[in-house]
Amino acid sequence: MNTYRIAIIGTGASINNHVEAIRAVGDRVQVVAAVDVDEARVKAFADKFTVPRYFTDAADMLAAVKPDLVHIVTPPATHMPLAIQCLEAGAWVYCEKPLCRSLAEFDQITQAEQRTGRYLSTVFQWRFGSAAQHLKRLIAANQLGRFLVGNCHTLWYRNAAYYQVPWRGKWSTESGGPTTTLGIHLMDLFLWLVDEWAEVTAITGTLDRQIEVEDVSMALVRFQDGSLGNIVNSALSPRQESHLRLDFQQATVEVNTLYRYTNVNWRCTPLDSEGEASGALASWRGLDQDVMGSHGVQLAQILDSMDRGERPPVSGLEGRRIIEFIASLYKSALTGRSVQRGSIGSDDPFYHAMNGEPYSVTSPNAANNTTR
Ligand SMILES: NC(=O)c1ccc[n+]([C@@H]2O[C@H](COP(=O)([O-])OP(=O)(O)OC[C@H]3O[C@@H](n4cnc5c(N)ncnc54)[C@H](O)[C@@H]3O)[C@@H](O)[C@H]2O)c1
Repeated sequence: MNTYRIAIIGTGASINNHVEAIRAVGDRVQVVAAVDVDEARVKAFADKFTVPRYFTDAADMLAAVKPDLVHIVTPPATHMPLAIQCLEAGAWVYCEKPLCRSLAEFDQITQAEQRTGRYLSTVFQWRFGSAAQHLKRLIAANQLGRFLVGNCHTLWYRNAAYYQVPWRGKWSTESGGPTTTLGIHLMDLFLWLVDEWAEVTAITGTLDRQIEVEDVSMALVRFQDGSLGNIVNSALSPRQESHLRLDFQQATVEVNTLYRYTNVNWRCTPLDSEGEASGALASWRGLDQDVMGSHGVQLAQILDSMDRGERPPVSGLEGRRIIEFIASLYKSALTGRSVQRGSIGSDDPFYHAMNGEPYSVTSPNAANNTTR
């Protein structure tokens, strides 16, 4: 095992998830630098966590430090240009969700991966808990029968103050509302588990927040084999929950939680007639580990991929699926038509922006005004 030199770009509200992740992998990594356009913030971070060097410009850091892996924890509009800068500088990238603001941006990142031979993994920590990994294996081995019906509900509450942060609530900087930044976790988990979505029909509304983007979205999904799912993403729900329920021929498997889960948040209910004798239930009870889905578990797998020089999880097409789905969901809501998977090509306005309208120009430092 190698020890990799890590740099962090963006030391704002969500940095603790990454600090925990770095602690969790122990001496497999060494944090060598931090960057934030807000000098006071990055200095305070470096002092608190004894990071040897800090910078206010990512290019300066990349030239001076040449890290092996960079964590990008900045607002969404900055992800694509920063990710490409890091890849070009020879680093692998572990970037926060949403990875980028459009399919066009995603494809530019893919081209940078191809040019440089380096890889990027998007943070989707929910895929990495033991229960989700176990369920994925059971589905692949057809232990639960065919998937038929899914409910994927992210019912969270974000007040007006949350949307006062300058990059939130705008198409050009957040690239959507709760669909893009809140429900993206559970939708990614749903589509990763079941895969092969074929068509989406959606509506969105801005009901109770003074924002440009939606504060609620609802979508119906048809999968290639005809199975069906419904999705709700809300920023308006006082009793908050994240609920994913998958009905298979032999059992219902569901998770009820808010931001994190362990095995206790999951339940498998077999067909009544089969009860305790159910093969599906026995398969589910084969879950013998209890690992919480976290940034750290995903980071450990990225480091394994670096050791082997292989594409890490949640990169390439594994990261594109959710970006294409969200683009299609918004296209459906904004055009009033169902959207087929694969139908948004480079000549489609929804390829270039989630709302089908050109974003204002942004540079890697465009979030300089991201102060709170
Ligand atoms: N995976 C998760 O569970 C999870 C949870 C919360 C947030 N996030 C994601 O993390 C990202 C950051 O969210 P946040 O809440 O920490 O935002 P934030 O606004 O609190 O912090 C962002 C930081 O990035 C800095 N920054 C902006 N542009 C920069 C640039 N070009 N170079 C260097 N620094 C720059 C800002 O000064 C700020 O300190 C978002 O993409 C968000 O969606 C993920």
